[in-house]
Amino acid sequence: FAFTAANETWAEAQITKYPEGRQASAVIPLLWRAQEQEGWLSKPAIEYVADMLGMAYIRVLEVASFYFMFQLQPVGKVAHIQICGTTSCMICGAEDLIAVCREKIADKPHMLSADGKFSWEEVECLGACTNAPMAQIGKDYYEDLTAEGFAKMLDDMAAGNLPLPGPQNGRYASEPL
Ligand code: FES
Repeated sequence: FAFTAANETWAEAQITKYPEGRQASAVIPLLWRAQEQEGWLSKPAIEYVADMLGMAYIRVLEVASFYFMFQLQPVGKVAHIQICGTTSCMICGAEDLIAVCREKIADKPHMLSADGKFSWEEVECLGACTNAPMAQIGKDYYEDLTAEGFAKMLDDMAAGNLPLPGPQNGRYASEPL
C-alpha cells in the first residue's frame, strides 16, 4: 500500500497541523483517507500510516479496530451495510434486517456476498434511535426500515439504483443532500 501522490500531499499537510511530537493525533484522518483510497484498511495500509506517523503498528491497529467506521476486511463493491442492533433498533426489528442480510448477502458478518457486491455487520447505536430500525450504508443513514423494504433496497442497489437516504417510510420527504 502507498498513498496516491495527492493523498500523500494531503496526509503530510494533516500531520503539520499538530505540534512536534504529537503527529499521532493525525491517525484517524490518515486511516480514513487510506480507507477511502482502498475501500478498507489492509495490514499494509495500517503499517503505512504507522510509518508516516512514527507510531507502532499495534497502536494504529488499536485505533482502527476500535471504531466501526474502519473496516479491517474487504467490503462489498456496492455497499457495506451496518445494521444497528442496539436497544431501540433491536426492539423495532433489527433482527429482521439482519435476517435479510443473512439471506441475501452472506450468513456471517464481514463475509462478501457471492457476487462481491455486498457485505454487512451489526453495529452499536448510530444515534438515529428515533427512526429505528436503521442501517448505515456508506456515509448515509437509512431509517424507519422494514424487512420487506430493506430487502427491496438491496435488490435496487444490486441493480445500480441507490435509494435516497433518510426515513424510508415517508415520515418526511427524503431529499438528496
Ligand atoms: Fe439504533 Fe440508536 S438504537 S440508532
